[in-house]
Amino acid sequence: MSRASLDKDPHEVAAMFDGVASRYDRANSFMTFGFDRRWRTTTSRVLDARRGERVLDLAAGTGVSTTEYARGGAWCLAADFSVGMLQAGLHREVPMVAADALHLPFADGSFDAATISLGIRNFVDTKAALVELARVVRPGGRLVICEVSTPTFPPIRFVYRRFMLRLMTWVGRRFSSNPDAYAYLAESMLEWPKQRDFAEIIAAAGWRDVEWLNLTFGVVAVHRATKPEATPPVD
Ligand SMILES: C[S@@+](CC[C@H](N)C(=O)[O-])C[C@H]1O[C@@H](n2cnc3c(N)ncnc32)[C@H](O)[C@@H]1O
Repeated sequence: MSRASLDKDPHEVAAMFDGVASRYDRANSFMTFGFDRRWRTTTSRVLDARRGERVLDLAAGTGVSTTEYARGGAWCLAADFSVGMLQAGLHREVPMVAADALHLPFADGSFDAATISLGIRNFVDTKAALVELARVVRPGGRLVICEVSTPTFPPIRFVYRRFMLRLMTWVGRRFSSNPDAYAYLAESMLEWPKQRDFAEIIAAAGWRDVEWLNLTFGVVAVHRATKPEATPPVD
């Protein structure tokens, strides 16, 4: 069984998610003490996808997030490069496509909004993916990203940093046939940039009006941004 390294080789990451797919949703809810549902609801509220809109849910995994965002009547597409994760969600009534975040198979300006929940920290090149998302979202369209972040309350930050790796490794052993994958997920959480640093990466990729909302003391943050009407050149 594979685990990805923090170099985030795309083949290793996809193979790792293929390996945990069948139990992923359950393990995720357990590890987050059920907070994942609340985070999805808030992300959906920030995304505010409406009937008549086309929304890309990138790194959608089993489509659990896509289903939530489609509730308001928007057409929401689940895209992920782990075919195993998509297959584990085939019972969900959302359209799905296998796609790599760095080479999206969509024309420029195809979507009104794009969103990623708990996926972007696994991408091998964060900024390149954000530039690619800016390409497929129409001018004036929205970006909403829910990702683990840095708790703002020091005691929670201490507990989180100290015990997260152990908890996730334990959960991986208990629930998954690939415990090492959960060790990777925990390590990647600890090395992800803080709220403000991530906001700067989003802005450097060509998005504007970047802001964020901390959830659960900043354990998770939802970043929101808009694609400018005329895209400025990206350095
Ligand atoms: C932790 S899961 C999150 C799934 C779902 N969004 C959720 O909220 O439960 C991360 C997902 O990111 C996907 N992923 C990682 N890198 C990717 C890439 N470069 N392109 C597309 N999907 C990717 C993985 O295959 C995996 O399904």
